[in-house]
Amino acid sequence: MSEPKRYTITAALPYANGPLHIGHLAGAYIAADIYARFLRLKGEDVIFVCGSDEHGAAITIKAKKENTTPREIVDKYHALIRSSFERFGIAFDIYHRTTEPVHYETSQDFFRILNDKKAFEVKESEQYYDEDAKQFLADRYITGTCPKCGNENAYGDQCERCGSTLSPTELINPKSTISGNKPVLKRTKHWFLKLNEYQEEIAKWLDTKKDTWKAHVFGQCKSWLDAGLQPRAMTRDLDWGIPVPPEFEGAKGKVLYVWLDAPIGYISATKQLFKEIEATKFDFAYSNNFSNRIKNRKADDWKDYWQSKDTQLVHFIGKDNIVFHCITFPAILKATGEFILPENVPANEFMNLEGDKISTSRNWAVWLHEYLDEFPGREDELRYVLLANMPENRDSEFTWQDFQNRVNNELGNNLGNYIKRVVDLTYRFYSGYVPTKISADDVLYFQKQASPVKYIEIFDAISETKKKVAELIKIFRFKEAMQQIMELSSLGNRFLQENEPWKLIKTDPEVVELIMYTSLQITANLSMLLKPFLPRTAERIEHMLNIKKENWYEGNILLASGTKINESEILFPKIEDEQVQQQLDKLNKSKMDNTTAGNDATENKPQISDLKPEITFDDFSKLDIRTGKILEAEKVEKADKLLKLLVDVGFERRTIVSGIAEHFKPEEIIGKDVSVIVNLAPRKLKGIESKGMILMAEDETGKLYFVQASGVNAGSVIR
Ligand code: MF3
Ligand code: ZN
Repeated sequence: MSEPKRYTITAALPYANGPLHIGHLAGAYIAADIYARFLRLKGEDVIFVCGSDEHGAAITIKAKKENTTPREIVDKYHALIRSSFERFGIAFDIYHRTTEPVHYETSQDFFRILNDKKAFEVKESEQYYDEDAKQFLADRYITGTCPKCGNENAYGDQCERCGSTLSPTELINPKSTISGNKPVLKRTKHWFLKLNEYQEEIAKWLDTKKDTWKAHVFGQCKSWLDAGLQPRAMTRDLDWGIPVPPEFEGAKGKVLYVWLDAPIGYISATKQLFKEIEATKFDFAYSNNFSNRIKNRKADDWKDYWQSKDTQLVHFIGKDNIVFHCITFPAILKATGEFILPENVPANEFMNLEGDKISTSRNWAVWLHEYLDEFPGREDELRYVLLANMPENRDSEFTWQDFQNRVNNELGNNLGNYIKRVVDLTYRFYSGYVPTKISADDVLYFQKQASPVKYIEIFDAISETKKKVAELIKIFRFKEAMQQIMELSSLGNRFLQENEPWKLIKTDPEVVELIMYTSLQITANLSMLLKPFLPRTAERIEHMLNIKKENWYEGNILLASGTKINESEILFPKIEDEQVQQQLDKLNKSKMDNTTAGNDATENKPQISDLKPEITFDDFSKLDIRTGKILEAEKVEKADKLLKLLVDVGFERRTIVSGIAEHFKPEEIIGKDVSVIVNLAPRKLKGIESKGMILMAEDETGKLYFVQASGVNAGSVIR
């Protein structure tokens, strides 16, 4: 796309059925917030919208569990989520909710338009029904085994493990989540979106995204298209949700499917935003810098952000939402004939916690509201660590040990100390005044002197960093962008260390002026660069430097000579061992509670597989196990389960055929460290000679993990 005129940024609407946790933040919101803040800094016309997703079985099931009404559930969690986002500093322009009237109207209008455009077929079909509860079982009301990957806890509409979209009737061993009973089939009528009729258009559109979308997102879309799109029911028999518009025959008792109404929530949030702008009700909690960007707009201007071809639409989501944002919602938008489609959907993968999947029901999570209470004023530390481990292209992991290390070393020792040193030295040498800007003659003079001050290189590095950071953000590589900033800080540190101004001050005070002037410009540029990433830290650095920059500056001189700066403060106090221990204790407690309570947890509790008979040490030492690295991977033709791998085992490269094709896509395992039994007798599988075996760990759900020794070279012996 040529340079867009404006940007519409959306972040997935979280279900209002529980508090936010770090998995949410790492999945969508931090990336979205960085992107939005960066574009605002660049002075772009951008809106950033979000809100609570308040319909669907996720809500009604929770209400039942807490013995209350759906209304109370959504009110409670909407308020909690909204305040957590605000306290954490996710700068939406509006945080809306899907139970607002404007959203009801917008969704019902979509339903009417889709009907006018003949996008629906109305079908009577057999659906599962719980005779005890007297209720049809859709979506999360029914679980069973996923026909695609064997996950035993797949929902009626989706398997969260492999990402497939499902219909309840596809589940193996279906079970009602209300009563636990095996459901019966009963006839009912629903409106189906004829996705099959959009197959070609969607495929053609997606094909234009091959080079700009993340491989895992594009790959998922491709495999759905290859499987062939099927009509999907867009209505449900439920008493909580947006009613099918009353003029439709048979509308009674039917509501819109939550995955029809929720993404439309982005549009209703935008409508509400512009309504409030027209009424100049500047009372949003967020919207820093808001009035400059989009003041004087009219309520109708929401259309520019959704219907104008020169708008760039970007959806930030987690990977379990890919199909809805890349296929279903685009098909709906397209069917209306009036809306633009997303330019990109930079979905992240999942973040795990301390070696286990984050789980609300097992209380295996770091809850955002609790973090905010327990680590007051330390939002940026969490942002940083989640960013450093952001699952941009593969699942990742949060551990408290890593949190402590990164905060103390990377933030504290590198960034925080550097800024403090520069400010302290400015006080020591110049009572807090930025030294004089040296003239062009002086520059030449220092160059001729072959002075140790390589400050020209520093200014090149600053320009280069700004260029790279901007480029990386534009292609959604936020983690690397942050690394670039940290490298500039390291460079600043080295520049001070190597030039030792504290020694030179006695002999070469002019050189010291140059060193300090340069160092102060580095810190000022760091504060600008950090704004999208660590907004509160950027503000605190600005306060120290006594500057306030609302825009992105290409020039490198951001701090004028003679400016009186403020005294230093410690940006990142140490995270103490006790703090880490407290968090680990808390997690341990959830683990204990779960094993004793046994209720919710049973489905996820590890099942201990039978122990094998004892062996001697000699038996064991016959195995030659070594570390290896997967170099190539491809599917074996006519074998669903097999992947053919080329593995570097140190002393040679081996072909190994492994039965893991249903668990991993070839492209996602290239480069993985593995453990290999290298002296297993060769075997022929589908005509390919396999020399060795890769060790895998299997968890209680049947999910496979590579057994990895991290940081060791391929070919190291395991014993
Ligand atoms: N509530 C959904 C989830 O948490 C996300 C909805 S995104 C939207 O998975 F597009 F539908 F809004
Ligand atoms: Zn599955």
